[in-house]
Amino acid sequence: PKRIFSGIQPTGNLHLGNYLGAIQKWTQLQDNGENVVFSIVDMHAITLTHDPKELYDNVLKMTATLLACGIDPKKSILFQQSTIPMHTQFCWVLACTTTMARLAHLPQYKEKSETLKNVPVSLYIYPILQAADILLYKATHVPVGQDQVQHIQLAQDLAVKFNNTFGDTFPLPRSLVNENASQRIKSLRDPSKKMSKSSNDPKGTLNILDTPDALMKKIKTAVTDCTSKITYEPETRPGVSNLVTIHSMLTGKSPNQICSEVEELDTGKYKLVLADLIIEKLTPIQEEFSRLIKEPAYLQEVLQDGREKAMDIASDCWYEIQHKIGYTNDV
Ligand code: TYM
Repeated sequence: PKRIFSGIQPTGNLHLGNYLGAIQKWTQLQDNGENVVFSIVDMHAITLTHDPKELYDNVLKMTATLLACGIDPKKSILFQQSTIPMHTQFCWVLACTTTMARLAHLPQYKEKSETLKNVPVSLYIYPILQAADILLYKATHVPVGQDQVQHIQLAQDLAVKFNNTFGDTFPLPRSLVNENASQRIKSLRDPSKKMSKSSNDPKGTLNILDTPDALMKKIKTAVTDCTSKITYEPETRPGVSNLVTIHSMLTGKSPNQICSEVEELDTGKYKLVLADLIIEKLTPIQEEFSRLIKEPAYLQEVLQDGREKAMDIASDCWYEIQHKIGYTNDV
């Protein structure tokens, strides 16, 4: 049977890259009646340094944000990763089946470790924990942005390895990446980098909770080039193409269709059109967020209920794993 799983780190604020790359797809799958499980991955969020005073607040903020974006706890299982101990237990089992060499190749590890003097072990095994998340729910499809595809590939490899060693257990999880723009959303200030929360220039990142004014300013000052026409050429015109990608993912129209629709506009005018579109999309989400964030008891109840449902699936799978690997032979 088909099962969708995905996760997101509890950062204080969702950015448009997260929304367009992943969350929008999550809500579509949910609304199509798929069997969906989503996790707020607080264990992944402590990989580098973090502030314990903020972590749980951020989990609740992310819960409110996801609900505001359209995740419906009646249709989706939404839970906090650290409340299901089998993720960690299974992570160890999977760690025993892979090699240092395999992990060292992963681009995200390479990039991040280069910027650190002392590399924590967690950064290295991060993708194994991610594979454990996915396989524990026997997920068949994983909706993510382009930047996570290699991690899903590792989860596939680990599933194959486990199945070959211990007997058929896991379906191979496939990543689902938005087809309209297989590009990742780039920073508005530096289109050679992905849009991210930790980017050096915060003006390059559009946050879901930014005021309309802030959104407008950031889009107006987005880096483009000396050509005023709107075209979609990610290699040679990364700045403008990034705006078209955002537009395309927001509307479901192809980049080429958008370029022909805005043929008359120069980049300055085009930015205003796009900014209006983004503000129109985000305003209702922001209103719903403001309402929900005042209801922490409700948010906790949603997570508690999600935990119970996730636990049912995870404990069945963990029971099976324990038998397959010989931790137990009880029947
Ligand atoms: P995270 O929290 O960094 O991002 C959440 C989702 O947002 C997507 N995304 C983007 N998509 C397009 N353009 C961008 N600039 C951009 N930035 C972020 C990400 O691809 C992701 O889908 N390791 C994962 C969390 C995770 C997970 C999992 C995902 C943990 N376990 C199991 C799937 C399955 C992460 O850090 O995502």
